[in-house]
Amino acid sequence: MERQRNSAEGALSFYIHIPYCVKRCGYCDFNTYTPQELGTENFALITTPYIEAVMREIELAKNRVGAISVPTIFFGGGTPSLMPSSEIAKVIRKIGEEFDLQEGAEITLEANPDTLSASYIDELVAAGINRISLGMQSAVPHVLASLDRTHNPHNVNKACELIKSAGIEHLSVDLIYGVPGESVSDWQTSYETALSLPIDHISAYALIVETGTKLAARLKRGELQMPPDDETAEKYLIFDEAAESRGFRCYELSNWARPGGECRHNISYWNGSQWWGVGPGAHSYFAGRRWWNVKHPVTYQTALVNGNSPELNSEILSEENKRDEFVMLQIRMSEGIPLSALTAGEVAKVAKYRDTGHIEGAGWEEGHLVLSRTGRLIADRIVREMLV
Ligand SMILES: C[S@@+](CC[C@H](N)C(=O)[O-])C[C@H]1O[C@@H](n2cnc3c(N)ncnc32)[C@H](O)[C@@H]1O
Ligand code: SF4
Repeated sequence: MERQRNSAEGALSFYIHIPYCVKRCGYCDFNTYTPQELGTENFALITTPYIEAVMREIELAKNRVGAISVPTIFFGGGTPSLMPSSEIAKVIRKIGEEFDLQEGAEITLEANPDTLSASYIDELVAAGINRISLGMQSAVPHVLASLDRTHNPHNVNKACELIKSAGIEHLSVDLIYGVPGESVSDWQTSYETALSLPIDHISAYALIVETGTKLAARLKRGELQMPPDDETAEKYLIFDEAAESRGFRCYELSNWARPGGECRHNISYWNGSQWWGVGPGAHSYFAGRRWWNVKHPVTYQTALVNGNSPELNSEILSEENKRDEFVMLQIRMSEGIPLSALTAGEVAKVAKYRDTGHIEGAGWEEGHLVLSRTGRLIADRIVREMLV
């Protein structure tokens, strides 16, 4: 994994946000829009002008940064697989023209299992996509219904077969657990189904109830009930054991990979490397400055069409900010934090967690703070105590 990391200097990863979904899932508050919200039923009317704006922002990045080396590109959403493959190809080609796109760069596309066909996947391969992340979420129909997801769980299997036979090297699925109405046995069905797929990566997130979502409203009305926290913690632990027994390693708190399947793009975020987020609401980090774009796709396009930057606001990270972020992100990683990077006071504050088994004893002896399986469940608490 060490070998695959990007050096923070002299490299820039690209995140390309595709802010469209056919329908908004009840739990999601990402910056994404449905055709109805945008006043059209015709995606083609949206996609081409949107990608034109994306191209302008890539040119803007080139003017600011120069022909820097690009180790990874990630098309995230929203639903990037709604985009015609020709538009995805245009963006990759543009980054290749303007920057030094590394040989063997990791190029990921997030996809909805319902929107994939064999010919579309072949076109993605031709465009340069070599990693697909599928939004599986669950294999259990009533859990998918609770999440207000539209896809048929059988389509995940079909999509994986198509992706592998098209020769895509890396395949990941996203799962969500701790969903209203989901029993422990439902969760076992979901992760066992995922572990039997031809994948090398799984992201598994505990459901977060975001304010203002349909899910939050249904919970408030008493139509749904969240499962107890202890049960959700138990789901994390049993999944981690099952994944490990099948050759997956938890390399970041919510991410598991077979050897070589780790997501290089996400590792670069967690390691504090530089990235440019293209698209409405996207965040970027370069040369110690963080900035974010205007949120709405129409405002975003208008800015770029008029030759302006879509940047909404920015901040310069102080050394203290950078250091706190390093601790918060690094504690989630399997290699943990070197004790030498912590102050004596911080080490003293968390030493008790070694005795309680939340910090790995062997790592500690070797000079590293590495969270154990149970420690990962309380990572936020440990960081808070350490940094106050
Ligand atoms: C924003 S989605 C983009 C990918 C694609 N649109 C999809 O849904 O499959 C990325 C992932 O974030 C996770 N996610 C989104 N909202 C979440 C929430 N409220 N709680 C937990 N996970 C969430 C889901 O697992 C989802 O696959
Ligand atoms: S498909 Fe993905 S991005 Fe779109 S609403 Fe659902 S979870 Fe959010």
